[in-house]
Amino acid sequence: MTTGPALYEPKIIIVDDLQSLSRRAAGFVVETLDPLAKPFVILPTGTTPLGMYKTLSEEQNGPRGLWNRLLAGQLDEYIGLEQGDDRLFSGWLSRVFMDKVGIPDQNRVFFRSNAADPAAEVDRIERLIDTKGGIDLAILGLGLNGHLGFNEPGSPLDAPTRVQDPLSPETIASNAAYWGGEDKVPSKAMTLGLGTLSRARSNLLLVSGEAKAGILDRALTGPVTPDVPASILRTHPNVTVIADRAALKYILA
Ligand code: GLP
Repeated sequence: MTTGPALYEPKIIIVDDLQSLSRRAAGFVVETLDPLAKPFVILPTGTTPLGMYKTLSEEQNGPRGLWNRLLAGQLDEYIGLEQGDDRLFSGWLSRVFMDKVGIPDQNRVFFRSNAADPAAEVDRIERLIDTKGGIDLAILGLGLNGHLGFNEPGSPLDAPTRVQDPLSPETIASNAAYWGGEDKVPSKAMTLGLGTLSRARSNLLLVSGEAKAGILDRALTGPVTPDVPASILRTHPNVTVIADRAALKYILA
C-alpha cells in the first residue's frame, strides 16, 4: 500500500467581501513579516490582491521600517517582454505597491522577462531564493482553473521555479481584460514552482467572488492532484486562506 503526503487543514479566515478581504490580508501581511529581521515575501498580481496593496500603501503610519528591509519578489512573469512594456507584472507590482511604500530597488526580486535563456532565468530565481534563506510568506491568488502563479493544471507538484509553456486558453482569456485583447497576452511565462511554494515557510491564499467557489472547493476538499494545482497547499502545514463568503459558498454550505 502506498501512502500519500501528510495533509493539513489550512486556516480559513472568512470575510464578507473583497473590501474586508483587503483589510484582513494587509493586516496579516504586516503581522507575519514585521517581527522578522530580514523578511522575504512573494507577491502576486491580479484583481484580488489589488485592495490589499492599496491598503498597505495608504496606511499613514505604516510600518516604514518593514518596507525598508523587506525583500519582495514576484510570483510570476510573462516571457519575452522588453523592459518598460506596460504588461510586465514587475511594472504592475512596482506601480501598485513597491513604488508607493518605497521598497528599495535592490530589494525587488524580478524575473527578467526578456532573458535570452528563460530556463537559465528560472534557475537563477530558484537559486536566489535559496541564497536569501528561503521565502517567509508567499501571497497567492487562485486561477479560475486552479492555477497558482502560472502553474497551470498538469504542473508537477514538486517542481522548482519553471517555465510554463503554453499558458492555458482560460488563463489567457482572464488576463486579456488587463491588456485589451487576447492577442496582447504572451503565450508563455515564468513562475515559482509548486515545489518552491511548498518550501515557503508560509503561504497566504486570497480568494474572492462566486466565480472561484467551485475551484476553491475542489482545491480545499478534493484530491491533491496536478489537475488542481492549488490542492498542493494542503500538503503544507502553514497555509492561511482569506476568502469571502461568495468564494466559500460550497465550503460553508
Ligand atoms: C493570474 C496570475 C496569478 C493570479 C491569478 C488570479 O493569471 N498569473 O498569479 O493569482 O491569475 O488573478 P485574479 O486575482 O485577478 O483572479
